[in-house]
Amino acid sequence: MTPPPPAPSPHAPGIDTPGTRRLALRVLTQPKDTNHYGTIFGGVILSYIDQAAFVESTRHGRHRWVTASVDRVDFKAPVHTGDIVNFYTLTTRTGTKSVSIGVEVEVERFATAERVAVTSAILTMVSVDAMGTPIPFLSPASI
Ligand SMILES: CC(C)(COP(=O)(O)OP(=O)(O)OC[C@H]1O[C@@H](n2cnc3c(N)ncnc32)[C@H](O)[C@@H]1OP(=O)(O)O)[C@@H](O)C(=O)NCCC(=O)NCCS
Repeated sequence: MTPPPPAPSPHAPGIDTPGTRRLALRVLTQPKDTNHYGTIFGGVILSYIDQAAFVESTRHGRHRWVTASVDRVDFKAPVHTGDIVNFYTLTTRTGTKSVSIGVEVEVERFATAERVAVTSAILTMVSVDAMGTPIPFLSPASI
């Protein structure tokens, strides 16, 4: 007999298989994002990485999430204007009030559609209440 599927967690809407890499964000780079070399500012990519980690964090609970730390960020290849940038996320650790999120950034080159891995980072995100006090992310939704 086939066992029944596991009941969904009420605290983690959207969570499916642990360790699943998901597409969190997809953006088209614009001229305003570029430096005078014609490539995208690293800080612009970092901002999207932060947002992608937030999106992944909300799968663990509907709370305010703040970025506690950003581990080493490697910019492996440049991003150009017109590239489509995909931000993939993966929860690499779950604690009590924090989770660690890996973010992998890949571009689709405008001219060739070639896919290139450009950046990776790991962030620690902390669930907090309205006062900014850390709370267990498995507690009931707080927003
Ligand atoms: C992140 C923050 C909420 C932590 O507050 P805190 O009182 O030190 O937190 P606690 O000691 O209660 O720890 C709570 C959890 O956060 C983790 N944590 C706290 N500081 C951390 C850090 N610098 N790096 C990684 N994890 C951290 C702890 O390990 C703990 O995780 P766990 O419960 O899964 O074991 C607080 O430092 C803060 O508000 N920072 C500013 C966040 C922010 O504004 N980010 C945007 C930057 S512009």
